[in-house]
Amino acid sequence: MFTITLWLSSCNKDKNNPGYTFVPDMAYTTASKSYSASNVFANGLTMQAPPVGTIPRGASVYPYKAKSPDDQLKAGLELMNPIEASPANLAEGKRQYEIYCINCHGVGGNGDGYLYTSKLFPAKPRSLIEPFVQTKPDGEIFHIITVGSLSTLMGGHGSQIAPDNRWRIVNYVRTLAK
Ligand code: HEC
Repeated sequence: MFTITLWLSSCNKDKNNPGYTFVPDMAYTTASKSYSASNVFANGLTMQAPPVGTIPRGASVYPYKAKSPDDQLKAGLELMNPIEASPANLAEGKRQYEIYCINCHGVGGNGDGYLYTSKLFPAKPRSLIEPFVQTKPDGEIFHIITVGSLSTLMGGHGSQIAPDNRWRIVNYVRTLAK
C-alpha cells in the first residue's frame, strides 16, 4: 500500500515546473547576449569577429574581383553553369528573381522595376532582355549577380544569394528574353 501511494504521488506534479533547483547558477545561465558589451574581451564586444583569413564552413573564396573588367570576362569564360534549366529550377529561379531583382529590373526584366519607376532608386537598371546582357555567357551574369556591376551602380548579391540560386536566376533571366 505504501509503495503504491508513493508511486502515485511522485507523478502528481506540474510537468512544466522543474521543481527544486539544485545548482541555480547552472539552471539559470548568465551567458552574455551577442550584442551586449563584454568585460571578458579586450575590445569590449561579446560577439567577436572571425579570425582573419578564415571562412565559414562550406563557403568558398570567390576568386574574381569586383569592378574589374578583366575578372568579369574571366569569370564568364571559366565559370560553368552547373544548374540544369529544368522546370523546377526555373520556378525557383523565378522565385529568387522576384525576391532579389524584380524591384529594379522589373517583371519582364526590361529595367522598369518599382524602385526605379517610383524614383526611389536613381539609376536606370539595365534591361536584362537586350543583347548587352543576353550575349554574355552564364558565368558573366553569375559574376555580376555575385559582385555587382562594374560601375557599382548595382551592388553585389553574393552574400545574400546562395551560389546555386544565383545560377537558377541566370537560367530564369534567359527565359525572360524569349
Ligand atoms: C537596386 C537595384 C538593382 C537590383 C536589386 C538589381 N540590379 Fe541589376 N542592375 C541595376 C542597375 C542600376 C544596373 C546598371 C548598372 C550599371 O550601369 O553599372 C544593373 C545592371 C545589371 C546587369 C548588367 C551589368 C551591367 O554592367 O550593366 C545584370 C546582368 C543585372 N543587373 C542583373 C541583376 C540580377 C540578376 C539581379 C537580381 C539578383 C539584379 N540585377 C538586381 C540595378 C539593380
